[in-house]
Amino acid sequence: LKIIGCNWKMNGSLDLLQKIAHITQKPYDDKNFEVIILPSYPFLSGFYRDFPKYVKLGAQDFYKQKNGAFTGEVSLEILKNLSCEYVLVGHSERRIHFQENNQTINAKLKNCLEEKIKPILCIGESIDHYQSGQTKNFLEQQVTQNLADIEDAQIVIAYEPIWSIGTGVTPSINEIQNIYDFLKDIAPANSKIIYGGSVNSSNFKDFIQIADGVLMGGSSIDIAEITKIYSSLQ
Ligand code: PGA
Repeated sequence: LKIIGCNWKMNGSLDLLQKIAHITQKPYDDKNFEVIILPSYPFLSGFYRDFPKYVKLGAQDFYKQKNGAFTGEVSLEILKNLSCEYVLVGHSERRIHFQENNQTINAKLKNCLEEKIKPILCIGESIDHYQSGQTKNFLEQQVTQNLADIEDAQIVIAYEPIWSIGTGVTPSINEIQNIYDFLKDIAPANSKIIYGGSVNSSNFKDFIQIADGVLMGGSSIDIAEITKIYSSLQ
């Protein structure tokens, strides 16, 4: 199954939710693809109501405690109650804006595995690491530290070079192939490796030929783009 992940980030509206729910009323080929929509928290319950069951639901973050006096936070237990199957962990925007470090991310991955919700771990190098030829070293460090004491879990790893997120620039097909092979070697055996960063309706087919799927930001909230992408999955 190739994963088609849609990370809405801090975007969206009820109107967008309804438009995308409408697009997905036609089933996709779920023998070959798994479409996962990751809207922000307030839209999760609308999603649960309006989307067909073959579209999977995910969240973009969570707080580690099960429940209790943590005003403003959302737990894995709450997410599971809304039928969330997936959750993003360690997206570069959380690492950058919310100071999540490799240790925090390791703890969050363990929470997900305990609570049996599937984590999508995001990793990726900065432009400086890329330009100085440090990509593999950097990724290896992230994988080792993020997955410390986690062995044969089923994890989805999204390789998202930071310099490619929201920029319209992507690594070449050869570069992605090279990193995919590298990550397959160092990640737990059952991991899936997907690619994210400026994925759109014209390039996503190239990426899903190499990787186990894609994670999209901008294209996933662009009605014209998502219509094209979704209809090509049927
Ligand atoms: P983008 O974002 O598709 O807008 O580049 C990808 C991501 O951050 O997951």
